[in-house]
Amino acid sequence: MKLVFLLGKGGVGKTTISAAIARKYSEKYKTLAVSLDPAHNLGDVFEKNLGTKPKKIDENLFASEIDLDDAVKDYIDDLQRTLRHAYRYLTVINLEKYFDVLKNYPGVEESALLEKVRSIVEKEDYDVIVFDTPPTGLTIRILIMTKMTLIWLKELIGIRRKILDRRSAIEKIQGEICVVIDGEKFDIPASEENDAVIKEMLEYQREMENFVSKLRNRSLTKFIAVLNPEQLPYLETKRIMENLDKIDIELSSLVINKYEDNEISRKIAEEFSRLSIYRVPRLDETRGLKALDEIAGLIGDI
Ligand SMILES: Nc1ncnc2c1ncn2[C@@H]1O[C@H](COP(=O)(O)OP(=O)(O)OP(=O)(O)O)[C@@H](O)[C@H]1O
Ligand SMILES: [Mg+2]
Repeated sequence: MKLVFLLGKGGVGKTTISAAIARKYSEKYKTLAVSLDPAHNLGDVFEKNLGTKPKKIDENLFASEIDLDDAVKDYIDDLQRTLRHAYRYLTVINLEKYFDVLKNYPGVEESALLEKVRSIVEKEDYDVIVFDTPPTGLTIRILIMTKMTLIWLKELIGIRRKILDRRSAIEKIQGEICVVIDGEKFDIPASEENDAVIKEMLEYQREMENFVSKLRNRSLTKFIAVLNPEQLPYLETKRIMENLDKIDIELSSLVINKYEDNEISRKIAEEFSRLSIYRVPRLDETRGLKALDEIAGLIGDI
């Protein structure tokens, strides 16, 4: 399976180019184009109404648009299920009010989109998945979230192990530990084998490490920046590279969209000479499969 992520400043042509790349791959592979941008227009480019469920566009070509509110709802529901399972005694405490507030908590959208991407990558049955991403800031935050999550998990697992050690010491002295809430008795685990919380964290750590190693594997995942031959998109692309570098991800290629031979185009070619650079000129028509085929022809086997 191959993953392709398109990054770039607003309006440079990410959606158009990601649709064309998906079209190109679909010549040989079963391909899914996914829009993660809350302001979707992938459907406009394919001239089809899209939703969360992949819709067939043509032979081997499918597309979907992820609804951010749905993603947040699924994320919170999942979190609620996991917590209920791990901390059984919390079910008697009123959790609902916490989850209600959590929906608006900073970082929840990033986490929700990250989990959506992970579930698409793990569950969907395609040879190639092309992601049209939200504006750069949000995309970079989602990617950085993978690294932050791993740092946090490592710390939390360490703390949990210490807690279990202490509990085990207490258990040796006074026997089995339990709490009684509203007359109901709950056992408190004192070993890793019996602790659902640490099992959950170790499992999540394994899954996240697996996902991050996929993102960093250059033969599996491509990060492509789209820009226009203008000053601001050029500066944004430099920032994207610096930020990706912080999480050990490398850009693999660059698409200069609405290309013209000007000073900035030459500067881009010089500065990013170690990347593959593709050029797509300003076209009259950029919507529909016929137009996408033309762009696909220009970018070749990106
Ligand atoms: N090569 C091109 N020639 C002419 N017009 C183009 C070209 N590429 C994109 N466009 C047009 O530029 C506009 C922005 O393109 P697009 O929606 O693909 O960009 P985007 O980066 O996804 O934008 P956003 O950040 O808003 O999601 C659209 O109207 C699109 O039709
Ligand atoms: Mg777009």
